[in-house]
Parts: sequence; structure tokens; C-alpha cells
Amino acid sequence: MNNLLMDVEGEIAVVSINRPKALNALNTETVQEINECFKEIQNRKDIKVVILTGAGEKSFVAGADIAQMSNMTPKEAREMSLNAYEAFSRIENCPQVVIAAVNGFALGGGCEIAMSCDIRIVADTAKFGQPEVGLGIIPGFGGTQRLPRLVGKGRAKELIFTAETIDANEAYRIGLVNKVVPKEELMDTCKKMAQRILKNGSLAITLAKQAINLGVEMDLNSGIQLESNQFGLTFSSQDQKEGMNAFLEKRKAELKDF
Ligand code: HXC
Repeated sequence: MNNLLMDVEGEIAVVSINRPKALNALNTETVQEINECFKEIQNRKDIKVVILTGAGEKSFVAGADIAQMSNMTPKEAREMSLNAYEAFSRIENCPQVVIAAVNGFALGGGCEIAMSCDIRIVADTAKFGQPEVGLGIIPGFGGTQRLPRLVGKGRAKELIFTAETIDANEAYRIGLVNKVVPKEELMDTCKKMAQRILKNGSLAITLAKQAINLGVEMDLNSGIQLESNQFGLTFSSQDQKEGMNAFLEKRKAELKDF
């Protein structure tokens, strides 16, 4: 991989988008590599939490690569958008928990890839925005769909129509991110949360993630049916037996399923 780094330690993978000279802008090769990387991750039993971040000091991802996009035909632009849809859906739907560690600019495609992650922990220096309409285009990596689902239609329209950049605290205030921390504590905070997640049943977490992701697109009754099915499935697992027996025997549970 030319534009991604992956480092796996103790069931946590840190994936870094690594084009710091271009502030980690997403060109087609990088999007392809993200797709391949998460295709691998989704089948790896030794990885239970992924932390996605940007290499370098300044930027998480400053958007899609404007230099590469500038001469695209409509067909090429549509393909670029669809390729990112595939890659970002892999992030969104992989069995692992994916935490975005947003270490700086998360603009355009950068905000969009962060929104594909399950949880966003961000440095106090991070900046968010969907500046596309200032370039005469619209968000094309899922922003018109994921942003209103996260922050509501009104705030999403304001961000997209004004193309304004907001700081980390404002992103927190509107519900775009989960937690803001001092920049030097960003990776530690993400790893601590990952460790906290690792203590729990990972099969149960995957089933809950599926129920949430599919359920938010359904009417309430269908979502509840889905939840009941997933809930029933957990009772076929070793973790359910171990987790409940450990509670009743007043000991620490050893959860292992995935
Ligand atoms: C290509 C980029 C880039 C990008 C930065 N660079 N963002 N290259 N695509 N999105 C490059 C710059 O050209 C420059 O290269 C180097 O990174 C450093 O950037 P500077 O602008 O010099 O840094 P700074 O002054 O600190 O400004 C940082 C910035 C600014 C505010 C983030 O770079 C910026 O506004 N970038 C564009 C942000 C944006 O509009 N993103 C949305 C893109 S559209 P050189 O070679 O000069 O050193 C999008 C659509 C998604 O994401 C959907 C597509 C289907």
C-alpha cells in the first residue's frame, strides 16, 4: 500500500492515511487502498477495534484530491463517488468497531470518511466542514446522506450551503463528534476507549452494530424485529453463557466470541 499504514497491536489496528504533503487528500489510489484494507480487516479475527487517523501533524483528511478531480469527466466523477461509497461502506459495516481519531482538518471527503466510522474522537485543533459548493460541486463521498443523519437536516444544510469550517467544540455541540480532547491526548484517549470496548463481548458488539446500522434505515417496528432476532442470536454464543454465569458466580467474565 502506497498511501496507508497499518499497525496491529493487541487486537487494535491503527490505520493511518499517509499523504501528509497533500494533507492526506483522498486520490483514487488511496480510496482503492482503503477499500482493500477494510476488505482484509473484516476477515481478521485478531483485530477487534480499528482506529483510523491521518499521518502528520496538521490534517486528518483535507478532502478528495482536488488536483486529480479538476479534469474529470462526469462519468469519472461518478465512478470516483461510487468507489468511495464502496470503501466507506466497508468501514461503516465491518464487524469491528472503527474509531476516527481526527487529528486536524476533516474537510469534504475527510469529514465524510470520519462520518463512516462508528465513533469520532477529535483533537481540540480539528476543523470540520463540507466546502464542496465553494468548488462548484456537492459532497460526493456520502456527505449529503450521512451528515443529516448525524446532525439533522437543518444543521447539515447550513454546513453544506455555507461551506463554512467549524472547530472541534462546535462539531461537538451539534453532535458531529463524540469527544474533544487536547491534541497530545488524542491517540491515548482512542486507545483507552478501544481497551474499554475490548473488555466486552465482540460478537455482541458486532450484532448491536448491525442492528443500529440497519435499524436506523427502517421503520420502528421492523427495527425492533431486527433487534429481537439479533438479541436471540446472542443466546447461541459462548459469551452469553460465560457473561451471565460470571455475573451469577460473582467473578470476572472471560468473553471470547467473535
Ligand atoms: C489536493 C490538497 C488538498 C486537497 C490540501 N492540499 N488539500 N491537494 N486536494 N483536498 C495540498 C495543497 O495543495 C498543498 O500542496 C498542501 O496540501 C498543503 O496545503 P495548503 O493549502 O498549503 O495548507 P494550508 O494553507 O494550511 O491550508 C489547509 C487547508 C487547505 C485549509 C486544508 O489546504 C484547503 O482548503 N484544502 C482544500 C480543502 C477542500 O476544499 N476540501 C474538499 C475537497 S472536495 P502544495 O503542493 O501546494 O504544497 C471533496 C469532495 C468529496 O472532498 C467528494 C468527491 C467525489
